[in-house]
Amino acid sequence: MKILLTGGTGYIGSHTAVELIKRGYEVEILDNLFNSKITVLDKIEAITGVKPKFYKVDLMDKDATDEVIKNGAYDLVIHFAGLKAVGESVEKPLLYYKNNIGGTVNLLESMREYGVKKIVFSSSATVYGDQDGVKLTEDMQVGVGITNPYGQTKFMIEQILKDVAVADSEFEVTILRYFNPVGAHESGLIGEDPNDIPNNLMPIIMKVSTGEIKELSIFGDDYDTPDGTGMRDFIHVVDLAKGHVAAIEKMKPGVQVYNLGTGEATSVMEMVKAFEKESGEKLPYKIVARRAGDLAKVFADPSKAERELGWKTELNIEDAMRDTINYLKNVRNE
Ligand code: WQD
Repeated sequence: MKILLTGGTGYIGSHTAVELIKRGYEVEILDNLFNSKITVLDKIEAITGVKPKFYKVDLMDKDATDEVIKNGAYDLVIHFAGLKAVGESVEKPLLYYKNNIGGTVNLLESMREYGVKKIVFSSSATVYGDQDGVKLTEDMQVGVGITNPYGQTKFMIEQILKDVAVADSEFEVTILRYFNPVGAHESGLIGEDPNDIPNNLMPIIMKVSTGEIKELSIFGDDYDTPDGTGMRDFIHVVDLAKGHVAAIEKMKPGVQVYNLGTGEATSVMEMVKAFEKESGEKLPYKIVARRAGDLAKVFADPSKAERELGWKTELNIEDAMRDTINYLKNVRNE
């Protein structure tokens, strides 16, 4: 099977490329390199022995996108590409709607035009909106109480995909709702390395540990949780990547939706302590006010993916911290 990864030099995309290539799939990557580096291709080659063919293309460039899809003879597309900074999306909503929605519509038009009718979409737990503290299942309400345009784009793209599948019964759509990806490949060669100022907990912890950021601000310790800090379903990025392999092997007409999470919730403070335990160093932090839009506890019921895809997570928080610290050591030595 020949697969195109849009956004494939990014954090989740690159780890997915590795797992697909290891299993003998032919992988090509399309990315605009806005939030990733082309050197990731060399890292993928170092890990797998294969350097994926790469197209530096922005999905907003319809002609360039057409060229790739027209000539690629792809069996399937995994669509990772999109802007993903929650905070930035609140300040620049039109940038997010134009890029994430516009880019996806361009991609889907090209796919339909050239007969590529299988797509796996990188969605997010954020589509569940403000359902706080409940173990989230795929049949639960989505699209209500989403607090940022980034999350809205994920929800809207899910709707677009559902409408496309209704209009064209040949389309096979799998939507994967990620919870909180963390960790890095065990080689230490690839990991989370955003070009932009990170919003997410782990890349910030990483920058605090390297001294780029002075201390971690923990957004509130007065939530109704055991230690008062927010709780999330942190999933190792390699488990997440393997979830994509499981998904492409079980495609079928219509739309399937799966949570990719561990099913467990871990608190921010527990993450800090786990990082300190693995690194052997204290992580400077201070407790500050809650971040607007944050929920107390967000975690998955991943049983549908286990039942239907035969997938479940195998790695834990300690594995994620070990692999993150190993990645940091490698990046530092570059
Ligand atoms: C996690 C926890 C914060 C930073 C968002 C998107 C979701 C997905 C993941 C892309 C919360 C706390 C964080 C910090 C902190 N995005 N925190 N200090 O908000 O669960 O989800 O990112 O795919 O779609 O909605 O992730 O990492 O920002 O926050 O205390 O400096 O860490 O309050 O409890 P979140 P996050």
